[in-house]
Amino acid sequence: MKTIAKMILLLMIIGFSTPVSAVSSQKLKITAKNSSHQFPFFDTQTPVWAYNDSIPGPTIRGKEGQTVEIEFINKLDESSSIHWHGLIVDNAMDGVPGVTQDPVKPGESFNYRLKLRNAGTYWYHPHLNGSEQLGRGLKGALIVEPKDKLPWSQDIVWLIDDWVLQKSGSIFPRFNTGHDLMHDGRWGNVVTINGNYQPVYSVSPGERIRLRLINGANARVLMPILNGIDAHVIAVDGKPVSQIFKYKGFDLAPGNRIDLDIIIPTEVQGHTYMVEDGFTRNRFPLASIKVKEVQPVQTPVFDPPTAEDSLPAEVFSDVTPSKTWDLDAIRGGQYGIGWAMNRLLWPNSDTAEIPKGQPQKIVFNNNSSRLHPMHIHGTFFRVLERNGKPEAEPFTRDTVLLGSRESVVIGLVPTEPGIWMSHCHIQSHAEAGMMTTVNVAPQRSD
Ligand code: C2O
Ligand code: CU
Repeated sequence: MKTIAKMILLLMIIGFSTPVSAVSSQKLKITAKNSSHQFPFFDTQTPVWAYNDSIPGPTIRGKEGQTVEIEFINKLDESSSIHWHGLIVDNAMDGVPGVTQDPVKPGESFNYRLKLRNAGTYWYHPHLNGSEQLGRGLKGALIVEPKDKLPWSQDIVWLIDDWVLQKSGSIFPRFNTGHDLMHDGRWGNVVTINGNYQPVYSVSPGERIRLRLINGANARVLMPILNGIDAHVIAVDGKPVSQIFKYKGFDLAPGNRIDLDIIIPTEVQGHTYMVEDGFTRNRFPLASIKVKEVQPVQTPVFDPPTAEDSLPAEVFSDVTPSKTWDLDAIRGGQYGIGWAMNRLLWPNSDTAEIPKGQPQKIVFNNNSSRLHPMHIHGTFFRVLERNGKPEAEPFTRDTVLLGSRESVVIGLVPTEPGIWMSHCHIQSHAEAGMMTTVNVAPQRSD
């Protein structure tokens, strides 16, 4: 014990004099407040709510193993919090008011201490009055870099957002409307990437690019179409896939992330690739990638890491579901239309009580014709079945989209004790009741 204490002291001393300290910990301040953002089609700036006056909020970048301390200061006129979507953290740091912490009131602050356990693509957003707080701009990317950096030519993050803008240049100020609730939430009329409308990215022929796509929209589901770009999926929802596969489209629901490995061919100088959304029948451009008319660069050669299949289907073959959640709309709740899980509306909800460390199955049955991207905090899960048929996705997730009348069986092995949210990531649905918790009991030895 004494030697450990000495070693820690020694590390602290070394840490102060060398850049080692930059690797072991990082301190940041994030302030939520009223701000403004310039959209290209308005003469005036649009009033928004932003983290550190930036749309989106600052990208937090840390290294695997590092601890990040974040002082969250709330200068909004209402309570808020920050949730770190996908990141496995101690339950007390999960940022859910009323469940893992008190709401952070106007003028107050809260210190988050995040140990970055796994490299990957994550994001952060409030977990209170979500439709309005996300809809007015509060969100940011959180990237955990691996210990050993790979020689990507570029590592690009696209935090995709969807806004309901009015001709006057302001954000449509009514949230959780009857229309939103009867449909798939608040779908906007302007989609941005990192706050920019249809941005152009420039690349050199031969470059190898890691493109991290994050759907940070309030409600809109995306299906990016790459139009001729050769891409492979290397990670889903923050975790490396167990088998790298060619990108052929992906339903990127609110909350979801995919990381793509893109190689720009050497003979395409001057070409512009258009990236579009194809989830709905009305295709529209998201961004374009313009290849510079320069000599090709040498394409970096390496194999992106894959994860071992941590939750193989066999683990769940003898497991009976610990919970089945039927998803449907009911009359009632504060908006008149409630989105229910087992006919109950949050906070009066049907929780799943499960022990740590044991394989669990959970069933989601969508009894409605609307979309529900279901998300669980504090865990990854595998989709085992869709509509009664086995699924064999070579990756795990933290958010799975249920289409109209679909049912999905997921498998997970909870590793973190605590009370974790399980909810629809369409903000208006969640606020109209579609939230509950997965309560993971510690093992006796804990
Ligand atoms: Cu992004 Cu409760 O989630
Ligand atoms: Cu929903």
